[in-house]
Amino acid sequence: MNISILTVFPELYEPFLKTSLIGRAVLQGTVSFDLTSFFSYSPPKQRIDARAFGHGAGMVMRPEIVGAAIEDKEKVHGKAFKIFFSPQGRKLTQPVLKEIADRVLQANNHLMIVSSRYEGMDDRIEQNYADLTISIGDFVLMGGDVPAMVLLEGLLRLIPGVVGKAESVEYESFNGPFVDFPTYTTPVIWNGWEVPPVLRSGNHAAINKWREDQAIEKTVKHHFEWVRSYALSAQQKKQAAERIPPHYCVLMHSNVMLPNGEVGTTSVTSMDIHDIARSARTYGLKNYFIVTELEDQTRVVQTLLDFWQTGYGIEYNKNRHEAVKRVSLKKTFDEVVEAIKEREGVAPIVLATSAKTGSAQSITYFDQERVWSHKKPVLFVLGTGKGLSPELMNRADYVLEPVEGFTDFNHLSVRTAAGVIFDRWLGLQHKAR
Ligand SMILES: C[S@@+](CC[C@H](N)C(=O)[O-])C[C@H]1O[C@@H](n2cnc3c(N)ncnc32)[C@H](O)[C@@H]1O
Repeated sequence: MNISILTVFPELYEPFLKTSLIGRAVLQGTVSFDLTSFFSYSPPKQRIDARAFGHGAGMVMRPEIVGAAIEDKEKVHGKAFKIFFSPQGRKLTQPVLKEIADRVLQANNHLMIVSSRYEGMDDRIEQNYADLTISIGDFVLMGGDVPAMVLLEGLLRLIPGVVGKAESVEYESFNGPFVDFPTYTTPVIWNGWEVPPVLRSGNHAAINKWREDQAIEKTVKHHFEWVRSYALSAQQKKQAAERIPPHYCVLMHSNVMLPNGEVGTTSVTSMDIHDIARSARTYGLKNYFIVTELEDQTRVVQTLLDFWQTGYGIEYNKNRHEAVKRVSLKKTFDEVVEAIKEREGVAPIVLATSAKTGSAQSITYFDQERVWSHKKPVLFVLGTGKGLSPELMNRADYVLEPVEGFTDFNHLSVRTAAGVIFDRWLGLQHKAR
């Protein structure tokens, strides 16, 4: 593979390209570099940057110099796959690295790295020449050289012959749905910490099983966004699901706010029973509790539950039975907490939901790691009427931020909100890579 690097500072790359595996790949002839300064394409004593049009922004690289450099390198080495760098570019991930490796092989085995400095390049250059613009993260550096080296470190590992063992590259974090497992070496005990005995047992099946368990556990707990965005097989889905702490939900018809501003009770609606039960089952919640303290409401709801849980409903619609069999009626919120405690051995972390912003315990839909770090079951609390009473809100460990659109209208039905909340917190969100 031939790699042309166009930069303002070639000296930054010189030690980098001579060191370790990259240096060895050059000596072996697996890759060759053509490192060139943009100054080679500007007339003597002329600047390669100029003031940006408009006010405010600083100096920008001039298009005719960058353009001449790119075209010259393509004349020498043939058509290239050209990569530019910008914080606004496509986020660099392991799948993107793989895609680049494939595309460079198709493009004449010639990769061109075009690295900018100052406030960047004249925009026309990127529009005309870039095959891909890469960002290494949501932060702004002083230039594209460190991003270029990051890209080269990742990309060259994927080129056959650069890394000694192909399997070192194959079984790695972000190559599949789960991250890499932990590794250990001698001494067996260091500072009182022992290498897990299974790794020293010589039992390959047990070691593989331990590694797999560790990898899945770490991914679900610390990289949930990654695993949920992966196209999982049925087996991987099951393995990940087993590591998600148990979740429950409760729909409160008591201890809720009424339109007159008082705390009171609301009526149960049949649609909420069915639809939230179906959502809860879809997202793997263990139970859906309905709380009402009213006797007549309890009787009506119990009749409906009996139909689906033990009556003719089982035959009538198996899927509906499957969802509604996990619904339980309780008189108070405390009874719900008790029921969960009995089943799980510990009281749940309470996640209140609200259509209002501004709670001190507010968390976002990206905070699973924080909530799951308690190693306890999780209970979503859904309100009816005008929302949960202050007493219930005070009992919450966290309050999920409201589900909102880009409008000032926020009057979702609780069954719709429940579906959205479960999906945002626990749902698969496959992302094309
Ligand atoms: C000071 S930055 C310009 C940032 C630009 N004004 C913006 O806010 O998008 C100069 C150059 O550094 C490189 N750069 C800075 N941060 C980067 C990042 N996170 N990923 C990739 N390249 C980056 C880009 O080549 C960029 O053109």
